[in-house]
Order: sequence, then C-alpha cells, then structure tokens
Amino acid sequence: MSLQVQAYAKVNLTLDVVGRRPDGYHNLAMVMQPLALYDQVTLRSAERLALETDHADLAAAEGNLAYRAALLLAEAVGRPLGAHITITKRIPISAGLAGGSANAAAALLGLNQLYHLGLGPERLAGLALQLGSDVPFCLLNRTALAGRRGERLTLLPPAPALPVVLATPRVTWSGPKTATVFRHYRADLVERRPDQDAMIRALAAGDGLAIAQRMSNVLEPVAVSLHPVIGQLKEALLEAGALGASMSGAGPTVLAILPPDGAVRAQVVAAARRFTDLVVETELLR
Ligand code: C5P
Repeated sequence: MSLQVQAYAKVNLTLDVVGRRPDGYHNLAMVMQPLALYDQVTLRSAERLALETDHADLAAAEGNLAYRAALLLAEAVGRPLGAHITITKRIPISAGLAGGSANAAAALLGLNQLYHLGLGPERLAGLALQLGSDVPFCLLNRTALAGRRGERLTLLPPAPALPVVLATPRVTWSGPKTATVFRHYRADLVERRPDQDAMIRALAAGDGLAIAQRMSNVLEPVAVSLHPVIGQLKEALLEAGALGASMSGAGPTVLAILPPDGAVRAQVVAAARRFTDLVVETELLR
C-alpha cells in the first residue's frame, strides 16, 4: 500500500512580532499563504520506519522533521508505524518557505490515512505544533491569519493565483537561522509594521496590487542587517517590475509578486539570477 501527498510551500504575506513569551518564543501575527510549489511525499507501508530524499544537504533520516512526525504519531496512537517515506524536494531548504514543516504535515496526514488511524484535525494540529511553529498551518494549507507561535489559525479569503518569483540567496548564518534572526530582533528598530487589516481587505477584494504592496515582515530589516544581499535582491526585484517584494519568514527567500499577465517575468527572473542560482517561478495557491 502506498500513498502520495503533495507538501506545499508557504510564504508570509505579513509577519509581525507582537511580544515575547515566557517559554523563549515570540508571539506573532502573520498572514500566511500557500504556494503552488510542492514537495512530493510518498508513503509506503513497511515493517520499519525509513526515510530518503533526493536532496544531498538534508539531515539524515532521524533528524528529518517528517521522520520525527512519524515517530510522534506512532507514540500518540501507542503502536509502531513502519513506513518508507520518500521525499522529492522542490522547495528550497531552510529558506523561509516551510518546506520541512510541509513535509512533516504531509507525513502526519498521509500516515493517518494510510493506517486508518482516524485522528481528527484537532489531534493532528496538537501533534503538528510539537513538531514546529509552521506545521499547523501546513496541515490547513489555506490562506490564514496566524497568531501566537503560528498555531492559532483563522481562515482568510484565498489570494488570487498571482505569479510569484522566489529568490533564495545562498547565505550562511552564525547559528541556527530562525533562532539567530529572532535573537537580533529589536522592537524599537522596526520602522514600519504590517497593516494586517489592510492585507485582509486586499485579500477580500482580490486586489493583487494591494496584496503585493501591503507585504511586510518585521524580521526583514533584521535579516538585511545580517545579510545586506537580501535587501539588494529585494530592490532589484522591485526595479525589474515586481508589484511588490518581501522576505518570507526568517528568510532568506525574497518573494516577488508579479502582475497577472506575466509581462515582467523575464526581467524579474533575470534580476533574481544576478544574486542567486536558487530562483523558482510559481504562483499563489488559490
Ligand atoms: O520554530 P523553531 O523551533 O524552528 O524556532 C527556533 C528558534 O527561533 C526558537 O527556539 C526561538 O528562539 C526562535 N523563535 C521565536 N519565536 C517564534 C519562533 C521561533 O523566538 N515564534
């Protein structure tokens, strides 16, 4: 028995930090949006748990979030769940696109189905949050406002299927990326906070230009201060004709939203390639 699950990438249309928590995390407010870009996750029933990917840089099986998802699910249902998990990667890794989280969500959903475990959405969401802040959103995989660490999800009107260019500069961080970016975050240095209500109105109106222009991420200036190339890349994408551009998550990917007719596509892609070879063309998932 085997099952194929598509694990979709996400971007942040907005990301605001609204406070520090006693557990060391920050409370966030984010408009999160799935992309049409996905990793293919294949689950085959097997006696033991095993995982393979076609991406050389990914952690060994035991460290992979999808592998840990399978172990956590087995613990939750109180029996071993053998499976051979194969992941065909298309989502750039450690890029701010929730690729690892999407793989974990796909493993939870797929194994629940493959083994007829019957866990409902709330049980799965509880396990998802134990795996990572973005995993509950990846289970939902629809345009949503995310609060707290990302697990309090409210559905929003879906975005129009606008073309998007993702550009991921190859930067190296002094420590684990997300922790490093949050450690350097300082509320008093934020000049412009995302206007969540304006983004939600733009989504409700299906106004692509307003969505693109309202994109905003308070972690972007932090990441730019550590890696100025992120800011230079964003400027170049805007100059090449993108309707709007913003960093996703803790970076380093910058997403550019293009006009629906795709007129400036070639220029925007060429601008992105001046900064990185990791350039992906996709669209917002409606
Ligand atoms: O979610 P993840 O475990 O990848 O986060 C890594 C680190 O980033 C956390 O340990 C924390 O220091 C920081 N973080 C945070 N607030 C969040 C998410 C992550 O401070 N909402």
